[in-house]
Amino acid sequence: MGHLGIEWYNAVAARDGGYRRTWDSEFEGPDGETAFTGWLRRTIPSHPRVLDVGCGDGLYTLVMSSLAERVTGTDYAENMIRLAERHKREAALTNVDFVWTGGRVEVYPFPDRAFDLIYSRRGPTSHLADARRMLRPGGLVAGIHSGDRERVLERLAVNGYELLAGDEYAGTERLKTLRDLALWLSRIPGAPDYTAPEMAGDLERIASTYERSNRGITVPHWRFIWVARWNG
Ligand SMILES: C[S@@+](CC[C@H](N)C(=O)[O-])C[C@H]1O[C@@H](n2cnc3c(N)ncnc32)[C@H](O)[C@@H]1O
Repeated sequence: MGHLGIEWYNAVAARDGGYRRTWDSEFEGPDGETAFTGWLRRTIPSHPRVLDVGCGDGLYTLVMSSLAERVTGTDYAENMIRLAERHKREAALTNVDFVWTGGRVEVYPFPDRAFDLIYSRRGPTSHLADARRMLRPGGLVAGIHSGDRERVLERLAVNGYELLAGDEYAGTERLKTLRDLALWLSRIPGAPDYTAPEMAGDLERIASTYERSNRGITVPHWRFIWVARWNG
């Protein structure tokens, strides 16, 4: 049997056609996703060779490519890379590469010092050891995650990065219907497909643990944004 995470993400790529949102919702309070995108937009112009680790379907990588000299997206799930390649062809962009890791989890097929900035948008943090090799001295690693604050900080410290920022954004997301909750839950890594009829009981039980009103079901939208430098 292969790596469980890879199998799950390959299945999600086949089931949902990528990683874009398939549910209807509204955000309230601090919005870490917008903050992270804003930080990348300000930072990429002075860090032109960019690697997106855990790029998924590549749509976000393609958006970032407009600011970079060259962006590479990499992922361990082959189905995700196939989708990313298709999105690249549709966008007809020439400064983007998508590279499958070959199914490897913590070792990446790129030369030493190839990048100025390596980011992970809700992708892995296990790349941080190999990222030191792929960054030029003074290069940055950054990420946004919906959990894992302690693990990220520990991995940055263990691998000798200088922490520049670590900010929490505690907002909420209001999902319009029970089906929106099912779609949202089904994207939690490793989760089953909560839209399946046999999951209805579990779905109701989980929904009862969140605040519900006639406007929808409110779930936490917590994000941790981190930035660190590799001083070589
Ligand atoms: C939550 S999705 C996010 C996808 C994309 N970054 C986005 O924002 O839409 C996480 C992605 O990271 C990939 N991934 C997880 N661990 C990885 C690893 N160790 N190396 C490479 N890719 C990984 C998964 O296959 C998946 O496509």
